[in-house]
Amino acid sequence: MPSRNRTALAAILLLAGWLAAGGCTDGSGPSGQRGPAAEPDQKVYTVGISQCNRNEPWRVQMDADIEAAAKEHPQLKVVFKDAQNDELRQRAHVEEFVSAGVDLIIISPKEAAPLTEPVAQAVAAGVPVIVLDRAVLGDRYTAFIGADNKKIGKAAGLWLVKKLSGKGKVVELKGLMTSTPGQDRHSGFREGIAASGLEVIFQADMKWLEPDARKEMDSALARFDRIDAVYAHNDPGAHGAYLAAQSAGRETEMVFVGIDALPHEGIAYVKQGILDATFQYPTGGKEAIGMALKILAGEEVPKKVVLGSRLFSKDNVAAGGEPLE
Ligand code: FRU
Repeated sequence: MPSRNRTALAAILLLAGWLAAGGCTDGSGPSGQRGPAAEPDQKVYTVGISQCNRNEPWRVQMDADIEAAAKEHPQLKVVFKDAQNDELRQRAHVEEFVSAGVDLIIISPKEAAPLTEPVAQAVAAGVPVIVLDRAVLGDRYTAFIGADNKKIGKAAGLWLVKKLSGKGKVVELKGLMTSTPGQDRHSGFREGIAASGLEVIFQADMKWLEPDARKEMDSALARFDRIDAVYAHNDPGAHGAYLAAQSAGRETEMVFVGIDALPHEGIAYVKQGILDATFQYPTGGKEAIGMALKILAGEEVPKKVVLGSRLFSKDNVAAGGEPLE
């Protein structure tokens, strides 16, 4: 082909490609009119994330997991809000997301009761809501993602029964008992130890917070001169209890069990010999983004997604732990 014809053909092909792509990068054609509608996957969806607090490593990890998963999908824009452990602030955040017209909300609520209404109202206003980790009351939300806290609590109980050969005095440091993981980790644990000689001699609500756990453990140590085990509903709680026992010179007297198993927190504590066991509580951040994409694409999603867990103990931590059956 003569080179002049080749140039003309190339120009035609370029023009055709340009028109097919919508003419201009802003979507309007050469005539100034809007070009063909953007592909459905080119629409940008805003997802509001309402995090109950960002002070704890586990929640920082959840937000990081959400952000990393969302980055893979340019059609998602995620906006994070931190309620700083204040349920009124978190209620306001949900309402703000609805008035701002976000396309979907992911919430990890501080407590069940106070966040139930705002979540239900968002759904009623047409904004789908994925509830992550801690639940709300009833079923007026789009979907829930979380691990089985009752199962984890029961597994912790059974593990301690075995570890203490069926008998011993236990301190239970509970997570916020107005949140569902606290309730379930408690009832599951009690079920796990029910048929054994393990006795809970001291229990307190440390609200998921390490300083509170340490204070409560100081009281337990002052009141009881023999403690065989501490079961804390999360790793920060177990670590706080360990520090209290250590400063009383009694940390070798007892076994410490926690929940969360973040690599740089609970698993590291097990490797360092601070905790005897920790149970993984996955953040669900990645799964929440996967589900958000489905909902935004108009697909059906299950009402409840239950995530798995793993046990990390001194015996198996080097091998990567083992799954809960
Ligand atoms: C963080 C945390 C975790 C715990 C989860 C339960 O705020 O306390 O340690 O596993 O919340 O919702």
